Amino acid sequence: MYRDTSSCNTYNYGDAQYWNARYIQEGGSFDWYQRYAALRPFVRKYIPTSSRVLMVGCGNAVMSEDMVKDGYEDIMNIDISSVAIDMMRRKYEYIPQLKYMQMDVRDMSLFPDESFDSVIDKGTLDSLMCGTDAPISAAQMLGEVSRLLKPGGIYILITYGDPTARMPHLRRPLYNWKTMLYIIPRPGFEKPENCSSSTKSCLEPVPTTESGLLPPGFVLEDPDSHFIYVCKKMDETELSSMSIYPFTNDV
Ligand SMILES: C[S@@+](CC[C@H](N)C(=O)[O-])C[C@H]1O[C@@H](n2cnc3c(N)ncnc32)[C@H](O)[C@@H]1O
Repeated sequence: MYRDTSSCNTYNYGDAQYWNARYIQEGGSFDWYQRYAALRPFVRKYIPTSSRVLMVGCGNAVMSEDMVKDGYEDIMNIDISSVAIDMMRRKYEYIPQLKYMQMDVRDMSLFPDESFDSVIDKGTLDSLMCGTDAPISAAQMLGEVSRLLKPGGIYILITYGDPTARMPHLRRPLYNWKTMLYIIPRPGFEKPENCSSSTKSCLEPVPTTESGLLPPGFVLEDPDSHFIYVCKKMDETELSSMSIYPFTNDV
C-alpha cells in the first residue's frame, strides 16, 4: 500500500490526462502513502464525525469508505480525473454518505464560501507541485481550500514534503491558518537494529521554529517519513487574541 513519490520522477502528476490513463490501466483501488488506520488518530482528533468533509484528489483510495465505516456522515470527494470519479461513483452508489464530483482543486467555484468544516488532502498538493507552474497551482489550490473552510475549520495535508518545501505555501498570511506538524514513518518502516533513539510518540506534534521549520539538528527516524500538517483556519476570537499574543502555537 506504499508507493514513494519523494521526487516527481518523470511522471506528470499535475496532468489530468496522466491520471485518467493511469486509472483506466490500473482500476481497483489504491491508497497513496498511508491507509486510514494509520491516519485515524489525527483525523478523529481534529475532525468530528458530524463534520462536512471535502476530500480533495480522492483518486481511487479507500480512505473515504474507511472514514464512513468509522462514523463519518458526509464526505464530498473530488478529483480532476473523470475516470476515477465515474469509477468511484459507481462503486459507492449504495453509500449515501459518499458523494463524488469531477473538479479541479484549483477552481472549486461550484462550492460556496465556507461550505466545509474540514478538507483532507493526501497526495494532491504533492501532485500539483510536480506539474507545470507548480507555485501558481499550489496558491490557487490553497486559496480555494481556505475559501471553502468555515472559520475554525481544519485542513489536513498528508504529504512527503518536509516543512522547507511546504511551509512557505501554507503560511501565506491571507489564509489565517495556524499550523501543527506531525511526522509518521512510512508503512512497514523498521527501526535499524543499532538505533538507540528514544522514539517520541508520532501522536505528539513536532515542535517547530517560529518560521514553521524543523529545529536545527532534528533527525528523521525514517528518512522517507510522511508529514501531516494540520492547519486551522482561525476564527474572529483567535485572530483578535493573535494580535495580542502573536506567537501562540496551539491548534
Ligand atoms: C497521489 S494521488 C492521491 C490519491 C488519493 N488521495 C490517495 O491518497 O490515494 C493524487 C490525486 O490527485 C488528483 N489530482 C491531480 N491534480 C488535480 C487537480 N488539479 N484537481 C483535483 N485533483 C487532482 C489525481 O487525479 C490523483 O487522483
